[in-house]
Amino acid sequence: MAARSAAPFVPEGADLAALRAAARGCEGCDLYRPATQTVFGEGPPDARLLIVGEQPGDVEDREGQPFVGPAGKLLDKALAEADLLREGVYVTNAVKHFKFVPAERGKRRIHKTPARGEVVACLPWLHAELGQVRPELVVCLGATAAKAVLGSAYKVSERRGQLEQADDYRVITTVHPSSVLRAPDRAEAYAAFLADLRTVRDHLGT
Ligand code: URA
Repeated sequence: MAARSAAPFVPEGADLAALRAAARGCEGCDLYRPATQTVFGEGPPDARLLIVGEQPGDVEDREGQPFVGPAGKLLDKALAEADLLREGVYVTNAVKHFKFVPAERGKRRIHKTPARGEVVACLPWLHAELGQVRPELVVCLGATAAKAVLGSAYKVSERRGQLEQADDYRVITTVHPSSVLRAPDRAEAYAAFLADLRTVRDHLGT
């Protein structure tokens, strides 16, 4: 069976607005079926920094915007403290639909990590966003984003905070903000996350 891919849905040479509109109809893998909507990237088309997360969460799926739930709030706070205002950053996800399983009881939807095939299927959208924004630096939050950009052997735990090269892009990886929220010592995890974002700030220069 042919691998699933978003590629047939991605209009060639389209700007971000046209890409966003086309992504609403993406059926490149099956994640679109239970999800409420596609959550495309957001931010200035000429942003110097592009941040990649994993996939929209429950709040993002309902609101249609990336990183607007609890992990997004933590990201916004850390960006501001690192002197990197969210308004100047293009923020997106490796996978554009929320993958979840229903909770055994109640209406809650439990986040499920996307499979490698789903990440690969969605990559044409991320490549199109990168091609339009052409950021000076890409930041990957967590393993799914890092593996999407730097390959499946990449280990954030060993390489976080270091400057990497992926094709035409300089990349820095760090942990996902939701891992900071879950960490046993949240203050320590937050300090390490902030240190990585300050490294990003230093590499961006003025
Ligand atoms: N986690 C992500 O990786 N992306 C979002 O947009 C929200 C939560």
